[in-house]
Amino acid sequence: MAFLSWREEFSVGIDRIDQQHRRLVGFLNDLYEAMQAGKGRETLGKVLGELLLYTKTHFAAEEQLMKTHGFPGYEDHRARHERMTQKVKELSEQFRAGTLASPIQMTNFLKDWLAKHILETDKQYGPFLAARGVK
Ligand SMILES: [Fe+2]
Ligand SMILES: [Fe+2]
Repeated sequence: MAFLSWREEFSVGIDRIDQQHRRLVGFLNDLYEAMQAGKGRETLGKVLGELLLYTKTHFAAEEQLMKTHGFPGYEDHRARHERMTQKVKELSEQFRAGTLASPIQMTNFLKDWLAKHILETDKQYGPFLAARGVK
């Protein structure tokens, strides 16, 4: 069973975003599996790096869409992305330095954040952008 399974309720109604979210879920599962399999710090660092990089790409894509279409919640949403990016940077630095208290806590944090952010924040722009022809 996957660490985080895709659920239909995660859909924001915009295909390109749903695809990105599925990929994020996939990267998170890869990270969790690598941890469970007892992979070394180097492998875990690589998987974590991929997740972070893709998160950046994804946040930028969402922000661009919201900005282009004048979504009223843009600033607040962007600030949430910013705070998350900071937090994840700290975690990955701790991970790299070997000072992260609990890797499982980190994956749990990422999982909870991702699910909550999609359900509570990303879903807010769904109908707005869909109504403006974004697919
Ligand atoms: Fe998102
Ligand atoms: Fe978002």
